[in-house]
Amino acid sequence: MSGTNALTMDKPTPTSLLDTGAQGIIGKGLDRVDGPLKVSGSATYAAEHAIDNVAYGVLVGSKVARGKIVSVDADSVRGLPGVIDVVTDFETFARNPQQGGETTAPTQGVKDVQYFGEIVAIVLAESFEAARDAAQQLTVAYEEAEGRFDFDALKGEAEKPAASDQVPPHFSEGDIDSAMANAAVSIDVTYTTPSQNSAAMEPHASIAVWDEHGALTLYGSYQMPTSDAQQLAKALGVSAKKVRIVAPYIGGGFGSKLGIAPESVAAAIAARTLGRPVKAVMARSQVFDATVRRSNTEQRMRLGADASGKLTALGHETLTSNLPDEGFFEPCGIGTHFAYAAPNRQIDHDIVRLDWLLSGSMRAPGEASGMLALECAMDELAEAAGIDPIELRRINEPESDPDTQAPFSTRQLLRCLDEGAAKFGWDKRGKAGTTRDGEWLIGMGVAAAVRGNMLMESSARVTLTRGGQAIVETAMTDIGTGSYTILAQIAGELLGLPIERVSVKLGDTDFPPAAGSGGSWGAGSSGSSVYLACETTREQLAKAMKVDPEALTLKDGEAIADNRKVSIGELAGIDGIVATGTISPGKQEKVTKQASYGAHFAEVGVNVVTGEVRVRRMLGVFAAGRILNAKTARSQCIGGMTFGIGAALTEDLIHDPRNGKLVNRDLAEYHVPVNADVPQQDVVFLEERDVHANPIHAKGIGELGISGAGAAIANAVYNATGVRVRDYPLTLDKIL
Ligand code: MOS
Repeated sequence: MSGTNALTMDKPTPTSLLDTGAQGIIGKGLDRVDGPLKVSGSATYAAEHAIDNVAYGVLVGSKVARGKIVSVDADSVRGLPGVIDVVTDFETFARNPQQGGETTAPTQGVKDVQYFGEIVAIVLAESFEAARDAAQQLTVAYEEAEGRFDFDALKGEAEKPAASDQVPPHFSEGDIDSAMANAAVSIDVTYTTPSQNSAAMEPHASIAVWDEHGALTLYGSYQMPTSDAQQLAKALGVSAKKVRIVAPYIGGGFGSKLGIAPESVAAAIAARTLGRPVKAVMARSQVFDATVRRSNTEQRMRLGADASGKLTALGHETLTSNLPDEGFFEPCGIGTHFAYAAPNRQIDHDIVRLDWLLSGSMRAPGEASGMLALECAMDELAEAAGIDPIELRRINEPESDPDTQAPFSTRQLLRCLDEGAAKFGWDKRGKAGTTRDGEWLIGMGVAAAVRGNMLMESSARVTLTRGGQAIVETAMTDIGTGSYTILAQIAGELLGLPIERVSVKLGDTDFPPAAGSGGSWGAGSSGSSVYLACETTREQLAKAMKVDPEALTLKDGEAIADNRKVSIGELAGIDGIVATGTISPGKQEKVTKQASYGAHFAEVGVNVVTGEVRVRRMLGVFAAGRILNAKTARSQCIGGMTFGIGAALTEDLIHDPRNGKLVNRDLAEYHVPVNADVPQQDVVFLEERDVHANPIHAKGIGELGISGAGAAIANAVYNATGVRVRDYPLTLDKIL
């Protein structure tokens, strides 16, 4: 038997089979099903697939930022021991279409260099060591051109970006200037944030294998294999049907692996040229230099309120940077559009064109940077108005989406703030600069978290075998987030199978297409596709039992109805039941405003002698629809909160002012928080179901945890010291 089930979210889905499932495993904090493989080193990451006769490729980056390549002295390294070839037959490896860039079909020879470190060649050898040695010796001659590297100097020439599907670049309502002039209390301040790197644990890596029919299999570390395969096909000038991406395990991506990166194109072209498989693993410094960065930002915040604290003016005008012609801009104001209401608003995004590394999506693009400004500005306004920061947010809670007046599908921001305040001991917060513990000044801060929810078209296939096993297959990925586990839970719950009898296969474009892991849409989208497939499986089991699906109970591998009990394997029959589910976005995302919410609380100590900041404890309270697995959801939020520590205190990607070259291009010099930087972190989820989001009633949490987390820390630093630093990260030199 087989069947398909497609649902477009045009209507709410008031009932969910997950609420009535007899298995009781949905929502439980089960251990990751892939955990044992990972801790034992048996999960196969991109560079670890055992491929016969593989040649090793090492990438070579440009030594100038802008200019033309005059010559590549390939012959001098071709004679080195073990070296096979040098390949430069590509226009550019470096543009990342998912980030807004265009990957052009390869042409003979690299011509123009667009930024320092851009990949210009790949050296192939019989061993990695030989390839690396030759890559270091390869001489490339450039005709260097003038470049633009000074953000501050070029601010006056910022361009208006083209329309974006994420957020309108420019939005204006009412008259903010006169509202500011007439406000009882106001602030007009500017925050800056630096460039950042995604800093995924696993570097970008690919193994390219062509078969005799001109079809490519690429073992890669990519978040969205379905669209990545299309991009790669386009870059290679072959039909999308000819490219298969295999990515069963991915060691983090945080946006840097949404689109294809240079190593996949280089490996594929080199493998085609050589007629044998090629493996290319980017060095950590190359991941920094030549994948993608989060843009630096400058954000002017203008907030004006009446005497009661109600906002009359809300301005968030931002500058970010990117390469010439790139469409992507960091959408800093994306959360500002719906976090608070005000009659007079101005939310703008402009781009400063720089010859720095491409900028693109990284960990909650928009909210991650934008909330560092908005939520500190709210803290500044609260201080200026003499109103408690939580009270100020209560006063400015919107009734509906301020842009469209659409109702919120769910919104529990105030409950998150109130429950967090009670749990954290917010009432013990003192006036700024007044609480001391030995040589440490102590402070508490709060910030809201908002993150828009997205649903993306996704498909999954569920096969119920005669042996009573369920096999779930989809081109969805697990980037460390827990996809394997939650999809097994959904299938187990709906089919009445213990999780041990569900096997989940991910990360292969031979499986039904999926939206992959990005934008926090993964669980909701791929989870819904598995749900829909299982709905069909249940219907077919009911048919086999000759009962209505509603009359059927599935539990412990058995179908129960009419005082009969039959094993579902037996009902599945010799061919099994194969069901495919497809979810698509529909009208619901327009008629309701869908987002996840939360509240961050932080307590810090600031050393009075050194100015050093130590986060002492953090609490995040979140409302994001149904929580599918309490443990993996909590881990996601802890990860986000930890990145909030990085954004507030440590992460700072520095460009050399002479050529834009990244100065701190490894994890020793680019500081993401390590264990000693991370204090006790608590996470609480409020009970919630979002019937407008999808049939499983779950919303995104991956990027919710970072939204506002750094602002809570910055606000705590202010509360500790009475000093407001608006230039992130808040390093000790700025605080002293
Ligand atoms: Mo995310 S920046 O969509 O991986």
